[in-house]
Amino acid sequence: MRIFITGGAGYVGSHCVREMCNAGHHVVVLDNLTSGGHREAVDERATLVVGDLADAELVRGTLSEDRFDAVMHFAAMLNVNESVSKPLRYYQNNVSNTVSLLQSMQACGVGKIVFSSTCATYGDVTVAPITEDMPQHPITPYGRSKLAVEWVLRDCAAAWGLGATALRYFNASGASSDGTLGEDRKPEYHLIPLILQVPLGQRADIKIFGADYPTPDGTCVRDYIHVEDLGTVHRLAIESQQAGEFRFYNVGTGHGASVREVIEAARQVTGHEIPAIETPRREGDPPELYADPSKVIRELGWQPAYPTILPIVETAWNWHQAHPKGYAS
Ligand SMILES: NC(=O)c1ccc[n+]([C@@H]2O[C@H](COP(=O)([O-])OP(=O)(O)OC[C@H]3O[C@@H](n4cnc5c(N)ncnc54)[C@H](O)[C@@H]3O)[C@@H](O)[C@H]2O)c1
Repeated sequence: MRIFITGGAGYVGSHCVREMCNAGHHVVVLDNLTSGGHREAVDERATLVVGDLADAELVRGTLSEDRFDAVMHFAAMLNVNESVSKPLRYYQNNVSNTVSLLQSMQACGVGKIVFSSTCATYGDVTVAPITEDMPQHPITPYGRSKLAVEWVLRDCAAAWGLGATALRYFNASGASSDGTLGEDRKPEYHLIPLILQVPLGQRADIKIFGADYPTPDGTCVRDYIHVEDLGTVHRLAIESQQAGEFRFYNVGTGHGASVREVIEAARQVTGHEIPAIETPRREGDPPELYADPSKVIRELGWQPAYPTILPIVETAWNWHQAHPKGYAS
């Protein structure tokens, strides 16, 4: 297949680009390299176009140069806290730019898309595991921007036969098994890389926000899904996508790890003490979020290769040790 991948220089996108190249697909990446993307992360078998999704002329021009079969759409902003203070940035990039991308796709006859959605579309859930039929009531502009795109995709599937899949990922984590691709965002705000900054000597300790949640060890539980497992599920989704069909799947391992368990895994993997400081809860952090992935397993034949936290942290540590300052470019 010929695939156009937005945000393919970012964390999840770069692993998916590699998965698609390994499977023999032809890949063109569009990334502005300003909000999380790295030139070095793009597989050398793919073509990188440096530019912004908001540049409709560039997007349309690129799409019309090649006979693309499909789009994978990763480009977005995803800092949940920032989205609360800067909602317009999030609606502009995540919603308006996606609408513009879909207009270009329609104009150029590209009829299939896989979209990076999120468990944040479910909002403040009190039940775990999360199934796809649970109501989506996102509580942040980020979550709402992603849900809005799901609505747009559903409507386009009905109106002009777009084939679309929304993959609602839980916590993307880990790094490529060969240690060459990994997570590098500045400032960092994801738990595993923050913990690993302690053994790297870049931070003195790790803060635990809330140790009094109604969970087995009192800390929040999240579903950590390895970034290469996200690569596989994207490939399976695009290869099976039918025209006119809108699908949506939760993508997680089906069980969670608590903050304390992740810290303990990092201690085991790194051999470092990693001091942890308990601090008050943060607003809006539900106690437990993990997926019921049975729908994606049943319908796409997907299975996570990294079902537990320890090997996930191991891959992350390999990457961070080899790239303590992140990518060179
Ligand atoms: N990381 C997670 O845990 C997680 C969880 C759920 C969903 N997601 C979704 O997955 C996708 C990828 O996340 P990530 O962690 O890889 O983030 P990332 O920031 O590493 O990647 C996003 C990429 O998109 C690019 N980009 C952003 N806006 C752009 C624009 N206007 N034009 C061109 N390029 C642009 C960035 O430069 C970056 O390379 C996002 O859509 C995110 O919402 C991520």
